[in-house]
Amino acid sequence: MADGRVNVQGAFPLVEPEMTDRRVDADVPVVEFDKVSLAFDDNVVLREVSFSVHAGRMAMLLGPSGAGKSVVLKLILGLLTPDSGTIRVNNQRLDRMTDAEMMTVRGDIGMLFQESALFDSLNVSDNVGYRLYEEIHLPADQVQRRVEEVLGFVVLEEYIDRMPSELSGGQRRRVAIARAMASRPRLLLFDDPTSGLDPITGRTVVDEIIKLRDLEHVTSIVVTHQLPDAFYIATHEAARRNGSLAIVSADEQKAEEASFIMLRDGRIYFEGHVADLRASKDPYLQAFLSGWVPPLI
Ligand SMILES: Nc1ncnc2c1ncn2[C@@H]1O[C@H](COP(=O)(O)OP(=O)(O)OP(=O)(O)O)[C@@H](O)[C@H]1O
Ligand SMILES: [Mg+2]
Repeated sequence: MADGRVNVQGAFPLVEPEMTDRRVDADVPVVEFDKVSLAFDDNVVLREVSFSVHAGRMAMLLGPSGAGKSVVLKLILGLLTPDSGTIRVNNQRLDRMTDAEMMTVRGDIGMLFQESALFDSLNVSDNVGYRLYEEIHLPADQVQRRVEEVLGFVVLEEYIDRMPSELSGGQRRRVAIARAMASRPRLLLFDDPTSGLDPITGRTVVDEIIKLRDLEHVTSIVVTHQLPDAFYIATHEAARRNGSLAIVSADEQKAEEASFIMLRDGRIYFEGHVADLRASKDPYLQAFLSGWVPPLI
């Protein structure tokens, strides 16, 4: 549309009523890294990295290939352990958790792995509903309803009975996104959610990420190489206008709620808001961003 608004009501079912009222306190850190270091043999990936992401907020994690972005997400899930420093999720130190506590923390995290990581032997429906059956033990009819709903978000309802091998790379990615959000986690970690997607599907996915943040108040970390998508997510918001749901341009204050964190050579090279990043005169940042930053409106 000419004013930049995209009405997405036709594309997505509305968020269920009970999900619209998840209160979050933005003063509460959901993820906290304190001087986290990690090396694989002599490959030092993170050097005393510290940052935090507060409830209902979003961090975009940027950096060149190999900078350690996926490693950061895997540390949050407890799939990797730091050599030093502490990581807290929901105010609990990961290194002091029992296995049972770790399972509880993981149960509230939705992760979209960079490589999608679907179960090859399960069809789309079972991949998406896996956690709802196996971990949350929801009754079959509720699982079915939620599976259909989240497949609707990524416009793949018709593929519900397919096997992963029968899907394109982009379709597998969308199934993985549906799976990540199926259990309504309060923390979502997206590793390159739009890479390999065509622009229209990519936009559908970023609109969904915006909705999860603004309507369900999910805390999220988005790793991306697609800078236009990162800027779009930071500068747009989901809003209900006259009873319909739309993705609209966000005001400056809202845009400042998204933080950008760039990793380089094991350290945080830049941390700030979209406006700071755009205004930066740093030659490395300018080179990284060149050709990617959409023009200021
Ligand atoms: N399990 C592992 N064992 C050994 N080295 C690893 C392991 N996982 C990651 N690395 C190394 O850690 C570094 C950071 O990897 P990571 O996957 O986090 O990069 P990235 O920033 O996500 O890159 P990309 O943008 O290409 O996905 C790389 O040098 C990688 O080779
Ligand atoms: Mg990666």
